[in-house]
Order: sequence, then structure tokens, then C-alpha cells
Amino acid sequence: MGMFDWDPAYDIGVTSMNREHQVLLQLMAKLQAVCDAGAPKAAVLTAVDALAAFTVTHFRDEEALMERIGFADRKLHGIIHKQLLEKLDEHKRAFVASRDTVLAPAFFQFLKGWLKSHILGVDTKYATIARQQKSA
Ligand SMILES: [Fe+2]
Ligand SMILES: [Fe+2]
Repeated sequence: MGMFDWDPAYDIGVTSMNREHQVLLQLMAKLQAVCDAGAPKAAVLTAVDALAAFTVTHFRDEEALMERIGFADRKLHGIIHKQLLEKLDEHKRAFVASRDTVLAPAFFQFLKGWLKSHILGVDTKYATIARQQKSA
């Protein structure tokens, strides 16, 4: 099983966000595939940018959902999103500045940690409220 394969544990019970999380995983898998294939640096950067762009979309959609359901901790969740985007940009800039043509293992560790700690540890919190409202 690949590092970025969908794991049933990622199912937060909110269909629209599950779908976006699946796209995130696909973009991360693509990033790994491009690096594994020894693609030129420009191709790796294109894949990084695609992930970054969709992440902005996903965070915006998620923040709109939290607003709609009146999730109490949405401000904090938004701050965590901002930090994740900053961290992603930091990793990208380090890659651009380096002579490397493939992303450092630290980059992939960051992505993996993001999925584990954010989707499983943070997104699940608004998901509980979203599910309760649906069944209410
Ligand atoms: Fe999310
Ligand atoms: Fe989130």
C-alpha cells in the first residue's frame, strides 16, 4: 500500500470533504510518483503547485462548511490551516533553493504528518458536528 493511498480511517463521514481529501491524497501520490520517476525539477514543482492550489481550495471549502454549521472552534481550525500552508510554502522554497531534483524525505514526512494529524485529529472535530446536524 502506497504512502498516500486512501485509508478507510480517513473517512470523516462528510461526503464533500471526504472527496476533497481524496483529491489531496491523489495530488500527494502524484508528487511522489513524479519524484520516483526522476522527472525534471520543473515537473516536480508543477506537482507541488497543483497540491498547494488545491489545498487553498480545500481549506476555503472546509472553512465555509465550518461557518455554515457554526462549528465553535472554526477560528482555531483556520489558524491551523494557515500554518499548514505556510509550512508547505517553506518546504517548497527550500526545494527551489536547493540543488535537489527530488523532494527531500522531510517534505513527504510533513505531508504524511499533515494527513495523520490534521484529517484524523482536527478535521474529525467539525465532522462530528456536521454529522449531528445532518441527523438532527
Ligand atoms: Fe481537511
Ligand atoms: Fe482542516
